[in-house]
This record gives sequence, C-alpha cells and structure tokens, in this order.
Amino acid sequence: MKFFVDSADIEEIGELADTGLIDGVTTNPSLIAKSGRNFLDVIKEICSVVEGPVSAEVTALDSVTMLKEAEVLRGLAPNVAIKVPLTMDGLKACKVLTDDGAKVNVTLCFNANQALLAAKAGASYISPFIGRLDDMGQDGMELIEEIREIYDNYDFDTEILAASIRNINHVKSCALIGADVATVPGSVIKQLAKHPLTDKGLEGFMADWAKTGQSIL
Ligand code: E4P
Repeated sequence: MKFFVDSADIEEIGELADTGLIDGVTTNPSLIAKSGRNFLDVIKEICSVVEGPVSAEVTALDSVTMLKEAEVLRGLAPNVAIKVPLTMDGLKACKVLTDDGAKVNVTLCFNANQALLAAKAGASYISPFIGRLDDMGQDGMELIEEIREIYDNYDFDTEILAASIRNINHVKSCALIGADVATVPGSVIKQLAKHPLTDKGLEGFMADWAKTGQSIL
C-alpha cells in the first residue's frame, strides 16, 4: 500500500519525505486555507520535495472552468495530479483530462456507485472518505471493501486512495482490504511506528548496553 501525506504543511511534508516512506501528497481547499499561504506557491513547493503525485484540487463547479483551472495547475510541475469533485461536471472534466494524459484524483466519494462512475471516467485515483462516513454512524471501511470488489470484478485500473483517515486502525484495515493508497495526516503516520513495548524494550537494551562500556564507533 502506498502512503500519501494528507497535508499542505510544507515543513511536515518535507520531514516525512526525508524518511523515504512517502509516495505522494494530497491537499484540498480546507488544508490550503489552514496553511494560510498562496495555493499555487504551496503546490509548487510540495512538488519540489516529493517525487510522487501531488493532488491539487480545482475549485470551479462547472467542467469548462475546471479544465481551465487544471491547465494552470498542470503547468506548476509534472507531478501534479488534478483533483476534481465527484459530480457530473467533475467526471466530465476527469474524462477529458485523463484522455489528455493527466493524472486525476476524483474526490468526495461516499458510495460504490460513485466510485464505479469515476473508474468509467478513467480516474487515476478514487478518494472514498472513510472518517466522514464513520462520523455519520456508517462504516467507512465497508465502502473500501465494496469498491475493491467492484474494481477487481472489472479489472479497473483506477487506484483506491483511501481518504479521511483519522487513526491507525483505519490504516491497518485499508491495508488488509487492499486499498492501493492511503492518504494519511502526518500525525497518524508518526503514530504508526509507535508501540509502548518498543519504547520499553529499547530502554532496556540501552541500559544494558551502557553497562558493557562498549561503543560501536
Ligand atoms: C483527501 O484527499 C482529503 O484531503 C482528506 O482525506 C479529507 O479528510 P477529512 O475528512 O479528515 O477532512
């Protein structure tokens, strides 16, 4: 499973990119607003520190203007992936863009039929939002399972980019189901490496090593 960072915080992205564990980045208008910075500058900077796809979302609601915005965004860097909303206009723009060789991430997916349409529109990625479904008392992970089954039934190339991930259990379940990508907040990526027995074990090893009086270097 590939890991994308769900963030528009260049410092956080740079720090995680240095680990070599990050395969791409997703942003959205809310994350850009939170950064307090210019959208185009932020995307350009992220693209310079991450080799993989960096999702930049159009903000128009009609397909004609979406395509104009996509042209600007695609001009920023070769690894920009255009994010479009899961609406009829978004799907229409998706088809034009993928036919033209762009990578397209169709976002705000909340049911399997929407994911089916995105695959038919040639989307590179479909973004089902797990956490927001959980928030409504539904099981977001069930949606990942359904999309996996449908895409496998028809050998669609569209990758399942599990989004709105809120905790480490979401990440594990996505991996068990076989999501292609998980886009994860930086704080949750860091938590994945944590276990109290790891900390305790390391403490013990370090204490015993100190007793030997030795040094490797
Ligand atoms: C995905 O691309 C979105 O940016 C993101 O995962 C949304 O997550 P949220 O529901 O926590 O805002």
